[in-house]
Amino acid sequence: MKIRIDRAKDRTHGDFATNAALILSKPLHRKPSDIAAAIVSRIPSSERISKIEIAGPGFINFFVNQNEVAEQLEKMASDPRLGVPLKKEPQTVVVDYSAPNVAKEMAVHHLRSTVIGDAIVRVLEFEGDKVIRANHIGDWGTQFGMLIAYLEKKENELGTGMDLSDFEAFYREAKACYDDDPAFAEKARHYVVLLQSGDEYCRKMWSKLVKMTMDQNQNLYDRLDITLKPKDIMGESLYNDMLPGVVDDLIKKGIAVEDQGAIVVYLPEFKNKDGEPLGNIIRKKDGGYLYNTTDIACIKYRVEHFHAQRILYFSDSRQHQHHEVVWEIAKKAGYVPDGVSYEHCQFGMMLGKDGRPFKTRDGGTVKLRDLLDEAESRVSALLDARGSTLKGEERKQVIHNIAIGAVKYADLSKNRNTDYIFDWDQMLSFDGNTAPYLQYAYSRIRAIFRKAEIKPGNIIISNDAEQELAAKLLGFGEAVRQTGDKCLPNILCTYLYELAGLYMHFYETCPVLKDGVDEKTRRSRLALCALTADVLKQGLKLLGINVMEQM
Ligand code: ARG
Repeated sequence: MKIRIDRAKDRTHGDFATNAALILSKPLHRKPSDIAAAIVSRIPSSERISKIEIAGPGFINFFVNQNEVAEQLEKMASDPRLGVPLKKEPQTVVVDYSAPNVAKEMAVHHLRSTVIGDAIVRVLEFEGDKVIRANHIGDWGTQFGMLIAYLEKKENELGTGMDLSDFEAFYREAKACYDDDPAFAEKARHYVVLLQSGDEYCRKMWSKLVKMTMDQNQNLYDRLDITLKPKDIMGESLYNDMLPGVVDDLIKKGIAVEDQGAIVVYLPEFKNKDGEPLGNIIRKKDGGYLYNTTDIACIKYRVEHFHAQRILYFSDSRQHQHHEVVWEIAKKAGYVPDGVSYEHCQFGMMLGKDGRPFKTRDGGTVKLRDLLDEAESRVSALLDARGSTLKGEERKQVIHNIAIGAVKYADLSKNRNTDYIFDWDQMLSFDGNTAPYLQYAYSRIRAIFRKAEIKPGNIIISNDAEQELAAKLLGFGEAVRQTGDKCLPNILCTYLYELAGLYMHFYETCPVLKDGVDEKTRRSRLALCALTADVLKQGLKLLGINVMEQM
């Protein structure tokens, strides 16, 4: 346990509390309450603190002078960063996320990686880090011989410029040809060899497959307001030339050994199911390399080429051991200097309402495109049911914002370490911890400003509801920092949800535009409304979600 000063959760405990006396009790061999009393008696009096209290076994609670709070809020309101500090020591962070596979449909676990990874990228960039987006697409491997042979067959039948809109079917048919037609299989195996030796024709066909896949994925990124661009593609093939050198190097350093023709790294840190050191093949008997060989080379590249200080991986929890193993090998090989951190930001599965892996009704994988189409049509129906009068472009934009916001937020708002249940009704509800709720809170605040005839003024904190809202607003920077440090967007979601709740309470108890509110109070409350709207907008933006003036 460390000494901490935290914002108090409950206002009766003041604004800040510290556990210092409790922590110091052991090394000092004294009662925490005595230490707390000794600390408190030595704190010089300050205009900024209105009261200091010792609570429970020895917590020290600080009550901040409300004039000071008002001053800080005004500073925050006039700051375009809304009080979120830039990091004093920004880092170079490589963020490995999305990473779909070529000639395959993006699946739901890619959706999770894409949505969560992109939120973290936005947060870290906002905090001043140098962020490198690395879309580690699966664009290499023996299956490409088969895919090239099948693309060739299709082009012969249909001509070039065909529209490859169903990757699932393409892959399935290619596999069927490979299994059923010996001549095709022969050609496919020949094409793998040619591709690996840099043959021009096979390279061209391969590029075509990559481009067709990634053009389609780029449409999805754009549709999802994801910041990934074609330049961020750094697929497995990028590291291909490094693989022989890395394997030789690992052999030379005594980290890898030959075992029945294959090259293997045995790691005593990891045990196999018989309790023996885990063996990790990095080169097969036939000379082929594996997924882990590429990731070892990739770590080396990210350190040498980008000078990465932090490398984040957003992939599902089933890949956890893989990441631990490659990191261990890269460290042993001396590819990573001390201080570089490697974080597997793993996430659970996306489940249907029945608690089983998310699938279509007939058991197939859900295509992201279909999922987003459904989200939009559900929102369209929802707007009709709510009697929306929006038309044309504006309606389209609102549907987009709510649909995409809901799908993303449903994922972002749960702790990523757990599985999560995909539930349309829950995510599209205007009540509870959802994007529509927060977006609606924002538009309702903006509506006040369309009616108000005066501008926001100086902030005066005069009652409990205002105090609670104020304290929450001042916690924005802390929520952003924790989100980026822990790569947990649900921290920011919870913050925004609590902020919206405190705002609603404030709005119910503190009239703003009603008759009988004096001008000073009205202008102060308008300022609190404006600042809340700004924080909601900025917070949602960091999550990759848009707000709108009217919805
Ligand atoms: N393409 C992989 C998949 O579809 C994810 C890649 C994750 N990143 C990595 N460097 N291994 O599961």
